[in-house]
Amino acid sequence: MKHIGLTLVFLLAVATCKADEEITCKETLSTCGHTDQFNSGSFEKDFIFGVASSAYQACNNSTINYYCIEGGVGRGLNVWDGFTHRYPNKSGSDHGNGDTTCDSYSYWEKDIEALVELNATGYRFSIAWSRIIPRGKRSRGVNQEGVNYYRGLINRLVEKGITPFVTLFHWDLPQALQDEYEGFLDPQIINDFKDYADLCFQEFGANVTNWITINQLYTVPTRGYGFGSDAPGRCSRALDPTCYAGNSSTEPYIVAHHQLLAHATVVDLYRKNYKHQGGKIGPVMITRWFLPYDNNDPESRAATERMKEFFLGWFMGPLTNGAYPQIMIDTVGKRLPSFTPEESKLVKGSYDFLGLNYYVTQTICIASFLPSLKWWGAQYVQPSPNHVDWANHTAMMDAGAALTYRDINGHFIGPLFTEDKVDATKNTYYYPEGISYVMDYFKTKYYNPLIYVTENGFSTPGDEPREAAKFDCKRIDYLCSHLYFLSKVIKEKHINVKGYFAWSLGDNYEFCKGFTVRFGLSYIDWNNITDRDLKQSGKWYKKFIITKDLPKKDFLRSSLTFEKKKKFADA
Ligand SMILES: *[C@@H]1O[C@H](CO)[C@@H](O)[C@H](O)[C@H]1NC(C)=O
Ligand SMILES: *[C@@H]1O[C@H](CO)[C@@H](O)[C@H](O)[C@H]1NC(C)=O
Ligand SMILES: *[C@@H]1O[C@H](CO)[C@@H](O)[C@H](O)[C@H]1NC(C)=O
Ligand SMILES: *[C@@H]1O[C@H](CO)[C@@H](O)[C@H](O)[C@H]1NC(C)=O
Ligand SMILES: *[C@@H]1O[C@H](CO)[C@@H](O)[C@H](O)[C@H]1NC(C)=O
Ligand SMILES: *[C@@H]1O[C@H](CO)[C@@H](O)[C@H](O)[C@H]1NC(C)=O
Ligand SMILES: *[C@@H]1O[C@H](CO)[C@@H](O)[C@H](O)[C@H]1NC(C)=O
Ligand SMILES: *[C@@H]1O[C@H](CO)[C@@H](O)[C@H](O)[C@H]1NC(C)=O
Repeated sequence: MKHIGLTLVFLLAVATCKADEEITCKETLSTCGHTDQFNSGSFEKDFIFGVASSAYQACNNSTINYYCIEGGVGRGLNVWDGFTHRYPNKSGSDHGNGDTTCDSYSYWEKDIEALVELNATGYRFSIAWSRIIPRGKRSRGVNQEGVNYYRGLINRLVEKGITPFVTLFHWDLPQALQDEYEGFLDPQIINDFKDYADLCFQEFGANVTNWITINQLYTVPTRGYGFGSDAPGRCSRALDPTCYAGNSSTEPYIVAHHQLLAHATVVDLYRKNYKHQGGKIGPVMITRWFLPYDNNDPESRAATERMKEFFLGWFMGPLTNGAYPQIMIDTVGKRLPSFTPEESKLVKGSYDFLGLNYYVTQTICIASFLPSLKWWGAQYVQPSPNHVDWANHTAMMDAGAALTYRDINGHFIGPLFTEDKVDATKNTYYYPEGISYVMDYFKTKYYNPLIYVTENGFSTPGDEPREAAKFDCKRIDYLCSHLYFLSKVIKEKHINVKGYFAWSLGDNYEFCKGFTVRFGLSYIDWNNITDRDLKQSGKWYKKFIITKDLPKKDFLRSSLTFEKKKKFADA
């Protein structure tokens, strides 16, 4: 793991986007300085630059009745409708929900105009299962209006030369299937997911050649069934007495197992019956990079390797080798389901590409290493190793690792990513180099897959006035520095990455944060959701996409600084 040594050398380096010079350790990311010096000329010509969104996060509530919240005739309730209404204080500190957000159902043409304005060449969005199959199972009826809606959207994208990347499942399971058999906790999900996917391939496959099965394989098992912080909201009562039921030690593994089988079954269906459509299909992984808290400490290093296996290997082991990583089998024991030989064969190799989402990097040590209160923002820490008998144990503790954002000197590893106004220990920090280590790791460890970066993005506070929200220098720094390290690793390590999707097209409902944050490259006014107004980051991204020059040494440095803000407002 030679790059880990290198990492520490660069630990304090925060990069701006000077494509023509090496990154130094002295740069800071407080302004948009230098970002004009970097453009898409540093990527291959056919590299796709897009933006992403997801169905639940972009709704409208105007037609509420039992089977249609979210607007648009005939959408069934999904588990995020159920969750946000049952647990308003888990859906965001503002109790926000997806009943009405940016209303992509009504304003999809505005979305496409915004994509065209950006000169985006790709758009990643998700199909709401309950919009086209309101009661979960195809045998109970298909909502033709929903089908027509997606067909119109897809065909218009194709007409505009924007490649659709379509996610089948971005967490919004039809509530009917949760109520009937607890969704992914039950193997019945496999056939229902297959049935739904079959309808999508049949109806949309002629114009969709990039299919994503499941978004972020790690998330629903751990947050939905481990912490109970996401839909459906299951967890052990000792962890959170408001969870309606659950077992945080066992259910995450069962749910993850069924997700893998459902994913692989759908890939198999696509390969067997829809090969003639000529498309590709794969899952999306949420990735993080993990650095040892103390590179000289063997326990930190071992915990870091364990964390990679429990976070990435949990899914990549089965997808590449048909088996969970040995360290998980040894540690988790009977709680980890096993694959039959046929299932193992089905899951192994069940992807044409990997979608990788990347936002942050964390440092890893073991729980006993934590020097007291300074570290109390640490995630996943367990009271002592492998204590499955604790009533408040979660599967995420099994790695025996503690996750923080600080290096050995107590410094944060990079600029502020999200601020928690109530509890500063929950602040997160970002580390642009991390994206290159992730890419290299997937190439080296998982047999050089075809990769798309399917999400990468930055949030700003939701309460900023419009002008401040649109003057989003920090988002430009975030996007630019990650794109810079992405281009660098592609060139230096020959990673097979073919596209990048910024999260997100416009401001929308953020899972568990409501409207307290904005992730959009375009601004949405929550009192008048008809418009998509490009922020400075959107304008920067557009310029980045259409400029294909190799960077010049004397390229005019950006005049975008906070001091010159007024000039902007006047322009
Ligand atoms: C639906 O939207 C309307 C108008 O935007 C709002 O007044 C109402 O509170 C919303 N309903 C729910 C259940 O959020
Ligand atoms: C929500 O969608 C419905 C149906 O498409 C549409 O008539 C309505 O105008 C939308 N609501 C808002 C607030 O735009
Ligand atoms: C959130 O709501 C639940 C009821 O569903 C309540 O028991 C709990 O105290 C609330 N938590 C906070 C932080 O307000
Ligand atoms: C970028 O998009 C604009 C429309 O917003 C279009 O007029 C222009 O030709 C596009 N530029 C390139 C280089 O594709
Ligand atoms: C695919 O999209 C193109 C462009 O909009 C359209 O002409 C064509 O009819 C679509 N194909 C199908 C099968 O919908
Ligand atoms: C979770 O299930 C395991 C295995 O059945 C059991 O040992 C443990 O006590 C359960 N935990 C809780 C909190 O119910
Ligand atoms: C879990 O329970 C143990 C024993 O009751 C307690 O010491 C520990 O603080 C709890 N941990 C969490 C994260 O609640
Ligand atoms: C809402 O935004 C649209 C598009 O920018 C604008 O034309 C319209 O006047 C606005 N409506 C109100 C009530 O502000």
